[in-house]
Amino acid sequence: MKPARILAIESSCDETAAAVIENGSLLLANTVATQIELHKKFGGVFPEVASRQHTLSIYPVIEETLQNAHLCWDDIDAIAVTRGPGLAGSLVVGFNAAKGIALARNLPFIGVNHLEGHIYSSWVRPANVDRFTPPEFPVMALLVSGGHTELNLMEDHLKYHRLGATLDDAAGEAFDKVARLLNLAYPGGPSIQKAAEAGNSSAFNFPRAKMDGGYDFSFSGLKTAVLRTIKQLESEEKDIPTADMAASFQAAVVDVLLAKTLAAARQYQVKSIVVAGGVSANKALRTAFTGQGEYPVHIPPLFLCTDNAAMIAAAGYFRFINGHIDPLDIDVLPNWPLSRNQ
Ligand code: KG4
Ligand code: ZN
Repeated sequence: MKPARILAIESSCDETAAAVIENGSLLLANTVATQIELHKKFGGVFPEVASRQHTLSIYPVIEETLQNAHLCWDDIDAIAVTRGPGLAGSLVVGFNAAKGIALARNLPFIGVNHLEGHIYSSWVRPANVDRFTPPEFPVMALLVSGGHTELNLMEDHLKYHRLGATLDDAAGEAFDKVARLLNLAYPGGPSIQKAAEAGNSSAFNFPRAKMDGGYDFSFSGLKTAVLRTIKQLESEEKDIPTADMAASFQAAVVDVLLAKTLAAARQYQVKSIVVAGGVSANKALRTAFTGQGEYPVHIPPLFLCTDNAAMIAAAGYFRFINGHIDPLDIDVLPNWPLSRNQ
């Protein structure tokens, strides 16, 4: 049978990305043009700057991806693109590029939820990986990105049941905000991880919130606890032990994420755990999940943890083979919740 090849585009935040995936798994090409350096001076993503940079990068990124895959447009069977959630001005750049290609090439057009995409990064098989096992259903999926923290029971492809989500800050957002409090560079996650390497994770006993048996999360109290500690130390004219604070904060986040995921995995008797989203790049989180020994755990390689189009292509493939093709007159959905079946 002829392989199905999906070309996907992702431009929901500050990365302009394209990728081609064959049969929902094998990664033929993956291009990410990051804007991190552009936004660093603002201490976070500046939406207008982001969308204009996407406009500049989108065409070369798509061209480079096709070239690296050694393919031409005739080899592509469908176009997938991030529909949301994300920054509206950033989303429309990739979204309209994908619509234009679908129209010009008469290809099926598939809008993909960005969060669904993150989960599907565990179905992506990089070309240099020989032995690859996709997650076995039912899956407990922990999604930890800059904007979302969710636990989803995934019974089968495209079938999600959201068990809980953050009531305030997302895990990545907490990393970014605490990094700012500690005067560490944007993006905060990698900076905290780096600072934490030299720190003692039990130096401060920061709160582990919402350990009430439910599956919702809350990280704003933890952020406030860090702020309060800094203010206290400052009022005593003491130095801020950045490394110890970073390590203790990171440990508190990891503890909560692991405990809730394991509890949910046990309750719903899943066969595997998937950890996805930018925060899944965190070394301490990866070590904690891979070390638990109770469930097979799938965490994507680092280059697939943060935003990329390979994950959108993988999710797009399963939408494609299940007949979820979208018309060309649909809008982006900046606040599309994962649990809504659209
Ligand atoms: O998934 P992602 O690239 O974008 C969104 O969809 O939001 O996630 C970005 C988030 C940021 O908050 C960033 O600080 C966090 O992922 N992040 C990390 C690490 N790398 C990225 N957090 C903790 N440790 C890391 N190594
Ligand atoms: Zn993301």
